[in-house]
Amino acid sequence: MEQQIQAAADAIRSGNLVVIPTETVYGLAADATNETAVAKIFAAKGRPSTNPLIVHVGSFAQASALVREIPDWARDLVSRFWPGPLTLVLKSTGVIPYSVAGGLNTIAVRIPAHPVALRLIAAADRPLAAPSANRFTKLSPTQVEHLDPTILSSVAAVLDGGPCEVGIESTVVDATGDTPVILRSGVISATDISETTGLRVTTAQNSVKSPGHHPRHYAPRAELRIVEKITDSAAGLTFGPPGLGQVQMPPSPLGYATRLYAALHELDELNPEYIEVEAPPDTSVWEAVRDRLQRAAHR
Ligand code: TXA
Ligand code: MG
Repeated sequence: MEQQIQAAADAIRSGNLVVIPTETVYGLAADATNETAVAKIFAAKGRPSTNPLIVHVGSFAQASALVREIPDWARDLVSRFWPGPLTLVLKSTGVIPYSVAGGLNTIAVRIPAHPVALRLIAAADRPLAAPSANRFTKLSPTQVEHLDPTILSSVAAVLDGGPCEVGIESTVVDATGDTPVILRSGVISATDISETTGLRVTTAQNSVKSPGHHPRHYAPRAELRIVEKITDSAAGLTFGPPGLGQVQMPPSPLGYATRLYAALHELDELNPEYIEVEAPPDTSVWEAVRDRLQRAAHR
């Protein structure tokens, strides 16, 4: 692995793309300080250039160098959750080209909790811009076997870090104001954030503040239908004993999140007419999973 990481670091420094493992989902990474390299990410994903990317760093000091100020409450979040599935949106110093953030004057940053990603950031000695390694609006890969051929053909290297432990994308928090605003839900919940900061947490209800977080996203090829109880003959995700072409999902939100994209990918491979998914409970601990399912079902 050490040799592969060195080769990947060389590719990054030469302005090429590398697929990297993180604890959430696989990322499509480039040198965040190189605009030409970053443009290759947008092209490979088929992603509009106005959708901002997340910058991955190896330390708090490296993050601090990219942003103007980090409020005390955001420092509290960072001490508890970094490295981990938490992304902060902060005011940019301009060290990172504005095209990385789709032209915004803010930058999204996180320290990923995956040893391979951290070793690559250190070896390349660069912050890495990396969105999820899926094609625009499609399922995010949580294992290298699920990477899209178009993505594979665009990269110089793939670092295989095994299946992702978290399984859904990081919680994105706007930290440019006085209190935390959740722009994208994730396994770090609103409750976690309010308990850590002692502040009232709000959730952005529109996509203006989080451009690129589309109503349709994370979608399998087959139409996804959210149902109360799965039909006997339908392909889908169930909490009960599975029938043919069905996947039994873990009863806990964390276990469910870890399994979700891989399970949908496996069902897609069977080319079903549609996929039924039993609705998870309508409680706050299921918020991030329900968000992903609703977007995947949006047509
Ligand atoms: O877990 C993750 O976050 C994964 C792994 C690879 O780290 N990355 C990921 O990146 O999901 P991406 O590009 O697929 O999603 C980035 C999210 C989008 O919802 C985008 O709108 C938001 O972060 N975002 C990024 N920069 C922003 C900014 N400056 N202001 C507001 N939202 C921003
Ligand atoms: Mg994404």
